[in-house]
Amino acid sequence: MLLLPFQLLAVLFPGGDSEDVFQGPTSFHVIQISSFANSTWAHNLGSGWLDDLQIHGWDSDSGTAILLKPWSKGNISDEEFAELQEIFRVYFFGFTQEIQQRASEFQMEYPIEIQGIAGCELRSGGSIISFLRGALGGLNFLSSENDTCVPAPEGGSRAHHVCKLIMQYQGVMDTVKKLLFETCPRYLSGVLNAGKAELQRQVKPEAWLSSGPSPRPGRLLLVCHVSGFYPKPVWVRWMRGEQEQPGTRHSDLLPNADWTWYLRTTLDVAAGEAAGLSCRVKHSSLEGQDIILHWGHPISIGLIFLTIIVLSLILLLCLALWYMRHR
Ligand SMILES: *[C@@H]1O[C@H](CO)[C@@H](O)[C@H](O)[C@H]1NC(C)=O
Ligand SMILES: *[C@@H]1O[C@H](CO)[C@@H](O)[C@H](O)[C@H]1NC(C)=O
Ligand SMILES: *[C@@H]1O[C@H](CO)[C@@H](O)[C@H](O)[C@H]1NC(C)=O
Repeated sequence: MLLLPFQLLAVLFPGGDSEDVFQGPTSFHVIQISSFANSTWAHNLGSGWLDDLQIHGWDSDSGTAILLKPWSKGNISDEEFAELQEIFRVYFFGFTQEIQQRASEFQMEYPIEIQGIAGCELRSGGSIISFLRGALGGLNFLSSENDTCVPAPEGGSRAHHVCKLIMQYQGVMDTVKKLLFETCPRYLSGVLNAGKAELQRQVKPEAWLSSGPSPRPGRLLLVCHVSGFYPKPVWVRWMRGEQEQPGTRHSDLLPNADWTWYLRTTLDVAAGEAAGLSCRVKHSSLEGQDIILHWGHPISIGLIFLTIIVLSLILLLCLALWYMRHR
């Protein structure tokens, strides 16, 4: 679980009215990945994200946050930022100790893999909701709802036990509540504003065609590559004229290093039917000027042949004239 909120379906918007859609990310979350190889070896990874754009790292040796953007602090003051950093440092330290001490009590066997995600999200009406979820060994374990710990069904009696234990630590619960329901919404509004120029920029895609490995004899795999666009929502289809081709397949949206995206869209067709197909790309940066790439070039290939024939004829004519004059 605990994968980032992949929103491929929402992302491949059905074309048309994208005007009133807020462009750019709408949520902030931190991710924790803790690995315990044995009773003495543990490692914590921490990171901060706006949707699927990473803006913070965590240096677990020094216990400090790494700011990946000049505006990653949002409008949080240096004092508050140092305080938050201290909270996370103490948390990672205490968490590691607690797991190592209680591993046998909770019958957890090494290696132990724990993942956590917590943050808040701006909803369309302007309200902000907060969330926290934890996983053990890749399965849902617990989540927070309002200000209580809710064990996940997959977590069994162990999750009940852990939730009960956590709820006894009133101080921890109060801190978590403050971070989720007060700090996070305030920080989210501030950082979305601080990073506005970069988060709401428009970058045009580049598109090109290639053929993939032939799926079966007599078939062609047409590949339309679309790369370098931002924000994420994009619409790509294989078309015949104005007709969408139903067999269009999309890859996952893959990130480029520069915060732009890449998408690969394929169509499996009979070799004879590829001519006349085109790949069409809609994206907010194109302002309605869709990119249309045609597969094969029946007209230009015809033109090339015609040109070659005409040139050959002219050459022959010249040769004939030269021959006649010199005879
Ligand atoms: C614990 O795990 C680490 C990392 O895999 C390994 O280097 C170390 O030797 C292990 N220690 C023990 C006591 O098994
Ligand atoms: C959380 O609060 C909402 C709205 O106040 C309520 O509908 C929901 O049942 C609550 N959940 C829990 C687990 O208390
Ligand atoms: C930061 O921005 C948010 C939202 O615009 C605001 O509520 C808050 O008071 C600002 N200042 C601080 C220090 O968080």
